Amino acid sequence: MSALVISEPNQKGGTGKTTSMVHLARAAVRRGLRVLFVDADPQGSGTALLAADGLEEDAPGLANALSNQDAETTLPDVIVPGLWTGLEVVPTTGGGLGIVRDELIVAPLARERRLSDALEPVRERYDLILIDTGPSLDQLTINALVASDIAAAVTEPDYLASRGLVQLLDTITTVQKHYAPGLRFAGVIANNYDARKKEASHWLEQLREAASAQGFTVLEPVIPARTAIANSSQQGIALDEWPRARPLVDLYDQQLDAITEGRFTS
Ligand SMILES: Nc1ncnc2c1ncn2[C@@H]1O[C@H](COP(=O)(O)OP(=O)(O)OP(=O)(O)O)[C@@H](O)[C@H]1O
Ligand SMILES: [Mg+2]
Repeated sequence: MSALVISEPNQKGGTGKTTSMVHLARAAVRRGLRVLFVDADPQGSGTALLAADGLEEDAPGLANALSNQDAETTLPDVIVPGLWTGLEVVPTTGGGLGIVRDELIVAPLARERRLSDALEPVRERYDLILIDTGPSLDQLTINALVASDIAAAVTEPDYLASRGLVQLLDTITTVQKHYAPGLRFAGVIANNYDARKKEASHWLEQLREAASAQGFTVLEPVIPARTAIANSSQQGIALDEWPRARPLVDLYDQQLDAITEGRFTS
């Protein structure tokens, strides 16, 4: 069966997109799934967290696989081992992906489908492909959406994040309409939630109201603000290997089921 492809775009920076993907990737490999993490963010943060040690700063990556300037290199050529058994990575290092993003802006034909086409030869090799996007609704993010079966939006208790959500949902609808009729919007991931803060509870209430009014889902479970979530991913240690983080492991496990509608439930 062909891999299920998921992206979690948000044009707002720092909402927890990459962190969410790191822990979802781990939840998936723990189930024995074959996972490919694709770093479509020119910042390369996901590569720094998830590629196994020893990746050179000038290693070929997603940029080479997407660019017309490098017709020789295809996506399978740039895959490297990931941090855990079952995980592989299409890396982004250096400034190449930023250049490709600018190249895509002026590309005359099929520019929205570049990533989707590039992934074609490897879709059968994996169960799950996670595409991490940068804080922008640029051509790379559009490419990630077009390549995806499922999109979820990672957001956090913040007024500006809520405002940006409207634009994000519009973009996803536009992509569905024009380029990817099969793309499903799974819902909003409420991340970094601190139940002790009054504003945060108010925010979550409002988010849930907006969701029922506009017909989207706030995915369960909500992901709390926890230093273990940040520190484990930054140190390359899985949550299940982190002391006293068992409840958090379960949260991401449930989140994986929520996003994939239980496709990988054993
Ligand atoms: N649930 C959480 N609890 C505590 N810290 C978190 C949580 N989620 C994310 N963080 C921290 O918040 C910061 C931003 O997270 P992350 O880098 O995943 O965001 P991002 O949306 O990928 O950012 P960018 O837009 O730059 O790609 C990081 O330091 C991360 O460790
Ligand atoms: Mg990120």
